Amino acid sequence: MSITNFAFPTPIRFGAGARKLVAAHLLEVGCKRPLIVTDRALGALPVLAEFQTHLGGLDVAVFAGVFGNPTCSQVMDGAAAYKAHGADCVIGFGGGAALDVAKVVGIVTTHPGDILEYVWDHPQVRPIVQELPYFVALPTTSGTGSEVGRSSVVSENDTHLKRVVFSPKILAKVVFADPELTFGLPAAVTAATGMDALTHNIESYLSPAYHPLCDGIALEGTRIAAAALLTAVQQPTNLQARSDMMMASMMGAIAFQKDLGAVHSCAHALGAVCDLHHGLANALMIDTVLAWNLAAVPAKFDELAHVCQVAGGGAAFVPWLKALKASVGITGGLAAHGVTPAHLPRLVAIATADICHQTNPRSCTAADFEALFKAAM
Ligand SMILES: NC(=O)c1ccc[n+]([C@@H]2O[C@H](COP(=O)([O-])OP(=O)(O)OC[C@H]3O[C@@H](n4cnc5c(N)ncnc54)[C@H](O)[C@@H]3O)[C@@H](O)[C@H]2O)c1
Ligand SMILES: [Zn+2]
Repeated sequence: MSITNFAFPTPIRFGAGARKLVAAHLLEVGCKRPLIVTDRALGALPVLAEFQTHLGGLDVAVFAGVFGNPTCSQVMDGAAAYKAHGADCVIGFGGGAALDVAKVVGIVTTHPGDILEYVWDHPQVRPIVQELPYFVALPTTSGTGSEVGRSSVVSENDTHLKRVVFSPKILAKVVFADPELTFGLPAAVTAATGMDALTHNIESYLSPAYHPLCDGIALEGTRIAAAALLTAVQQPTNLQARSDMMMASMMGAIAFQKDLGAVHSCAHALGAVCDLHHGLANALMIDTVLAWNLAAVPAKFDELAHVCQVAGGGAAFVPWLKALKASVGITGGLAAHGVTPAHLPRLVAIATADICHQTNPRSCTAADFEALFKAAM
């Protein structure tokens, strides 16, 4: 007997102004002293100050110590801020980086050890046994969909290797998805994060895992992102385009319960070795990897071309994707973004060890990764 589990558990309040509902919600569930976990840059931007004007009735503290690809020590600093404030809940406010830290601060405030002892593949992984602090999430980018995910990506302090804490217990209790929070995103960040959302939808659709519910979400997420990304980049305050990208981002993250593929294995390596932004790394690899995948699942590429209204069937999908990338300003290969041949051995080793490519439609050896990285240079 083969039984599959399906779950879409996160309550989502979606729409312009959703951020204004947070205070009433927290008071209703008995929380009064939130710690806002956000990143350094956002901490200084008006978007955070404006959000705080809607938190009347709460005693709020801000931890703005997240930056880059977040590390273990940032999580530990966030936990110290939580304790110093005597906080009773966490508000995650930011992109994937801030939300990933916000999701796990509660683990180390209620459990022993450091956060890397809770990563899923730690040989003596510690269990999460205590109830975690109440946690709500507000995304300010449309890319990772971390707000609806059960994982948190935290890098080791010294090696910068990305490790994953995976547990349904770190899911946000409620997501307040307010597309107005993304109006101030610079064009380059909109483009890179949007390509991440598109990659999640495409790779999860291509994954061979059995999950027809997620396949439906992934295809619709692909359709929405493909139609909205360029407008979101060109017209930052276009509410429809920003709403569509935020929705596609959440759909991608919900869909990738059925796992991702080799584009993400390459992106994880590029993040660790060259500190490239996650979305940009995906964008730099996606056309090369998908062109290589095409022969394995041609009918799925036909379907992707169909939902993106690309004429010419599956073979025309990758050229269309390349043109989309260029139109949103992502140009040049890996070399143009600071990757050199000297990086190759580590990139190949990390990508090969990464788990994502196990659900790539075509199995991927170290030699394949080397060829893919070289082709994407
Ligand atoms: N948990 C998951 O499932 C998951 C999935 C994919 C990636 N990730 C992780 O997410 C991180 C990447 O997240 P991201 O792509 O959202 O980027 P990010 O969180 O690093 O943010 C990118 C930049 O945009 C800025 N920014 C964010 N919102 C803004 C706004 N509204 N206005 C102006 N500037 C704003 C930030 O300050 C930052 O400089 C990586 O650490 C990656 O490992 C997690
Ligand atoms: Zn991603």
